[in-house]
Amino acid sequence: MENSYAEDISQVKSILTDARSVLILTGAGISAESGVPTFRGGGGAPVWRGMPFEQLSSAEMVEKDLPLVWEWFDYRRNLVGECEPNAAHQVLATVQQSERFSDFSLVTQNIDGLHQGAGASDVIELHGSIWQASCLSCKTTQSLREIPEDERPPICPECFDSMRPDVILFGEAMPVQAVYGAQKKAEKCDVCIVVGTSALVYPAAELPLIAKQSGATIIEINQEETGLSSQANISLRGKAAEVLPLIFAENDSPNLRLPENKKVGSLDS
Ligand code: OAD
Repeated sequence: MENSYAEDISQVKSILTDARSVLILTGAGISAESGVPTFRGGGGAPVWRGMPFEQLSSAEMVEKDLPLVWEWFDYRRNLVGECEPNAAHQVLATVQQSERFSDFSLVTQNIDGLHQGAGASDVIELHGSIWQASCLSCKTTQSLREIPEDERPPICPECFDSMRPDVILFGEAMPVQAVYGAQKKAEKCDVCIVVGTSALVYPAAELPLIAKQSGATIIEINQEETGLSSQANISLRGKAAEVLPLIFAENDSPNLRLPENKKVGSLDS
């Protein structure tokens, strides 16, 4: 470990010692070591059957070709279903359960459910969940674990209209309640840790800025520099599954063994 990096880790640990309210904002990078492909950085933009991700995951495509949208999300859900939470998801769930901080909030842009898979609760999912369907008409939601994959599109148990994946698609408004809840957490936290996001997509990207304006310390964990880096008090350049266990270790010489994570390849098929 380089000296400056070790110093940064120990500075973050000391900041966390005094923290009461901690907000964690995660993006695709936290699940990268579980084998879930990221959207940007370190490779090409996701393409499936020759179509760009933005086109497949769009409100327009739900109107035009709902069965294709289901095929695309079933494909992605099957990939994610092969993945296990990694050491980053696990340490966050453990810290939340330990009640070490009086408030410890987890806000994610990810739809993969890996925070919950590690045991975290009350996760604010800004972009929805790949494990859930919602009704096109009455918005009733249902877990996809209860719906067989040959029922596509699933039929709403309440009004019998078709259901769609319960995720935010391009061209759609953000879920007001989730965004409002996350903004309130950002206003109240004294430390905001931003993990594995390119910080390009709003309103998630705004949360650390709200926290900073409210006086919080901003810590970024990312392998690469992002648009947020210049605003962060400390930027830790490393992998989430390596850095997070270090900063939340209770002692100074953690003997951590990282789990073997499955790799499931890219979104190209
Ligand atoms: P991106 O794919 O835009 O960014 C992933 C970030 O994670 C990059 O900055 C990488 O450098 C970083 N990264 C990669 N591996 C990492 C690792 N092992 N540890 C730490 N960092 C790592 O993903 P998001 O910022 O989450 O929205 O993307 C935001 C939204 O854009 C997504 O939720 C999705 C997409 O459009 C919707 O689908 C609505």
